[in-house]
Amino acid sequence: YKSMHRESVQNPKKFWGNMAKQELAWFQEPKKVLEWKVPFAKWFGGGRLNLSHNCLDRHLDGPRRHKAAIVFEGEPGDVRVLTYQQLHDEVCRFAHALKGEGVKKGDRVMIYLPMVPEAAIAMLACARIGAVHSVVFGGFSAEALKDRIHDCGAKLVITADGGYRRGQVVNLKKNVDAAVAASPDVRRVIVLKRTGTVEKLNEIDRWWHEITDHQSPDFPPEKLESEDPLFILYTSGSTGKPKGILHTTAGYLLGAHLTTKWVFDLKETDLFWCTADVGWVTGHSYTVYGALSNGATTLMYEGAPNQPEPDRFWRIIAKHRVSIFYTAPTAIRAFIRWGDQWVEKHDLSSLRLLGSVGEPINPEAWLWYHRVVGGGRCPIVDTWWQTETGSHLLTTLPGIHVMKPGLAGVPFFGADLAVVDEKGKPVKDGVQGKLVIRKPWPSMLRGVYGDPDRYQKQYWSEVPGAYFTGDGAKRDKDGYFRVIGRIDDVLNVSGHRLGTAEVESALVTHPAVAEAAVVGRPDDLKGQAVVAFVTLKTGQKAGNDLMAALREQVSKEIGPIAKPDQIRFAEALPKTRSGKIMRRLLKEIAAGGAVKGDVTTLEDLNVIASLQSSSSEEG
Ligand code: PRX
Repeated sequence: YKSMHRESVQNPKKFWGNMAKQELAWFQEPKKVLEWKVPFAKWFGGGRLNLSHNCLDRHLDGPRRHKAAIVFEGEPGDVRVLTYQQLHDEVCRFAHALKGEGVKKGDRVMIYLPMVPEAAIAMLACARIGAVHSVVFGGFSAEALKDRIHDCGAKLVITADGGYRRGQVVNLKKNVDAAVAASPDVRRVIVLKRTGTVEKLNEIDRWWHEITDHQSPDFPPEKLESEDPLFILYTSGSTGKPKGILHTTAGYLLGAHLTTKWVFDLKETDLFWCTADVGWVTGHSYTVYGALSNGATTLMYEGAPNQPEPDRFWRIIAKHRVSIFYTAPTAIRAFIRWGDQWVEKHDLSSLRLLGSVGEPINPEAWLWYHRVVGGGRCPIVDTWWQTETGSHLLTTLPGIHVMKPGLAGVPFFGADLAVVDEKGKPVKDGVQGKLVIRKPWPSMLRGVYGDPDRYQKQYWSEVPGAYFTGDGAKRDKDGYFRVIGRIDDVLNVSGHRLGTAEVESALVTHPAVAEAAVVGRPDDLKGQAVVAFVTLKTGQKAGNDLMAALREQVSKEIGPIAKPDQIRFAEALPKTRSGKIMRRLLKEIAAGGAVKGDVTTLEDLNVIASLQSSSSEEG
């Protein structure tokens, strides 16, 4: 590992040039591995390829042709298996359907689907045509969907009548109808029949099956350039609305492919289950692209982990004989709470490797995961990465590295990571600093869609010459990184990223609210909980009704995942003399204030602020 990593960082062109040729299928091999003008990278110039060809066609000539590509289990218990040949055929049929609706290379297509095979089919069909997909997690609201449609200028939306979640039907179509009503540029909505809960379509809608089933199962993949855009995925930042992270074809695919192969030590016989929804980057890179590019069998599950009972995941693992299981610490902490008996009821002997992603994993959860789920025999990979990085950048490699509970691990090949101080200078081992990346890597974001300045400002200006991750970290003497978590104004709630600014602007859209400040508070289960401090307009009354209304408002503007766990009404928000909200102070108050039940009385936080500033002045 050490010599290979050194070589990959010192001579990235050689390393990645070889990997690209060895691992991917090209219509035309690249001529130039990397062009780098900080912060803009172009990888594999002159190359032509297609991602769906890499994920499908290249497996059809050999023994993988009739191997399962996707094993799907719906929440009600329905199971579907698609072989590589069948998946290829479905993708081609749907690519024809999209083409028939006028979708061309470069067009943006919105995908708002439950976790069903058609989500992967839609993504792969876009990739086959060269259309740019933007998947929106089904838990986001109509308002959030509308914002994303407008931002990327999508003219077509793919959705379903509904999806199953916690025994209920999630009415996706209703949200799409509301979003599309406010999006005059959208020309077509394709509706998958999943729950049978929509009977009549609107004029703009077409049933998926009606425009797809009769199509030809062959659709020649578009010969795309390496840097042709592949997808836009919206994620929260420290300011403003979520930004559209742009990924392109070859570099992204190589990152997703190689990390899936090496980090999960993938074998031909594996059944790989990444529990992330395709609405998140983990679902993109591991459930879909990385797994299929390697010719693996990937499992998709539609529903909740505790439906109908808290052992649903273990039931699925035992039933389908899952060998690699990849989930988030929040889920693991919930399993601990639900009790070992739910795990122990099932034969999990098929498991051989476990993974964790999305947030720091506390050592207790790690040890439980290792002992109870992994039976003490499965290595755990704790993979650190981001929507922006496209694929894992910190991890251990099973069988190669010693695992350390709570520490993500060491840099993956080609990743030049460092922990630096305020001035951008590397700190000593054991000292906390900012986690940065000092060299380009193939699966890096290519920018923020439609906003090159934001890309530069947000990522490349905090630390000179380096990409700032937004995370704080420490490195130990063995070169292992412990990622502490976000040190910018981004929260990580149950492994989901949330911008404090986003939640604040959702709150102030309520007519009663004057000002809002949102901070994170440590939470045993979710990692972080959302605490909102709110001041009201004159004449408005704090109370439980308003609190409920404000939480509802956030749910409407963003989605249920962003609902504040606690709302605290204040007389005024503590501010510095220059008028900036003292977030550090609010964080301390949120973390320390053991407030029981609802806080409906007005708190005078400025008093605390003045106390604080006077004590700090004295100090
Ligand atoms: O804070 C880090 C945390 O999740 C952030 C990235 O969030 P997102 O773009 O939504 O992608 C999540 C899935 C890759 C990071 O900045 N994070 C992710 N993985 C880990 C982690 N924190 C600690 N350990 C990890 N393994």
